[in-house]
Amino acid sequence: MSPRHLLTLLDLSADELVGLLDRADELKALRGTDAHPRPLAGRTVVVLLEKASTRTRVSFEVGIHELGALPLTLIAKDTQLGRGEPLDDTARMLSGYAHGVVYRTFGHDRVEALAAASRVPVINGLTEDYHPCQLLADLQVVRAHKGRLDGLRVAWIGDGNNMACSWMNAAARVGLSLRVACPEGYDPRPDLLSRAREAGADVEVVRDPAEAADGADVVTTDVWASMGQEEENAARQVAFAAYQVDDALMARARADAVFLHCLPAHRGEEVAASVIDGPRSVVWEEAENRLHAQKALLELLIAPR
Ligand code: CP
Ligand code: NVA
Repeated sequence: MSPRHLLTLLDLSADELVGLLDRADELKALRGTDAHPRPLAGRTVVVLLEKASTRTRVSFEVGIHELGALPLTLIAKDTQLGRGEPLDDTARMLSGYAHGVVYRTFGHDRVEALAAASRVPVINGLTEDYHPCQLLADLQVVRAHKGRLDGLRVAWIGDGNNMACSWMNAAARVGLSLRVACPEGYDPRPDLLSRAREAGADVEVVRDPAEAADGADVVTTDVWASMGQEEENAARQVAFAAYQVDDALMARARADAVFLHCLPAHRGEEVAASVIDGPRSVVWEEAENRLHAQKALLELLIAPR
């Protein structure tokens, strides 16, 4: 039987996603107690990184360990993959040692290729197109604060990047209403937007950040230049100058709105320090939830049945 992968949020049904968030809440409550399960005992999960990471690496390593398995992190440039060994050969070889692979890479085609050649589940730990594991944590924190996901209004401010596209997929699965405000030239890729809309997402792309933030329950943003876009940084500073989430923009949202950011953040660029360090920010709980949500995901995909 071919393994089950998580390459985008659309790999989960709506019911599975809600079940996974429920389980993430349970695992959060059980952490540190004798009742915490170890369903991956004796197993090994590889975390293969072609880009920098703090949260993804640590949350997966800790989560894999707490579920009873051995986490094995590979920095790709220090492996034979980094010296040109084919991705397919890497997938076949890792499938003989490990019970799952978390992969952070550049083009989304690379995680698809690894999954196609793998005999064990592959989890997307971020590509240029999507960052689904981050959305599991984000949805968990939003649900905890708002009591629901269905019908919430989410404002995405800034780049139509991997995080924006992951929110579009989340909209398709949990019935939230998403308004994405991007400068011209930085909209979400049309094919990814179409795919999310075909899956049922209620997504509107606008230019004006205030229009997106008006009446929002959640305001969220991300860096203006993602990993791999460092050379575009100067041009992006100009293009995104009017897209900072500051107190004035937060004032457009509902009084009980929360602010999210996947981190790392650049204070004074995409977000004002007063917002990310202010009372409406839930970014630290969001970051912690990476651990709980990914444990639920690892259990779903990798635990023996
Ligand atoms: N949010 C996130 O994925 O952080 P890292 O790049 O530190 O893993
Ligand atoms: N959009 C960012 C997210 C980092 C977690 C990037 O891809 O670098």
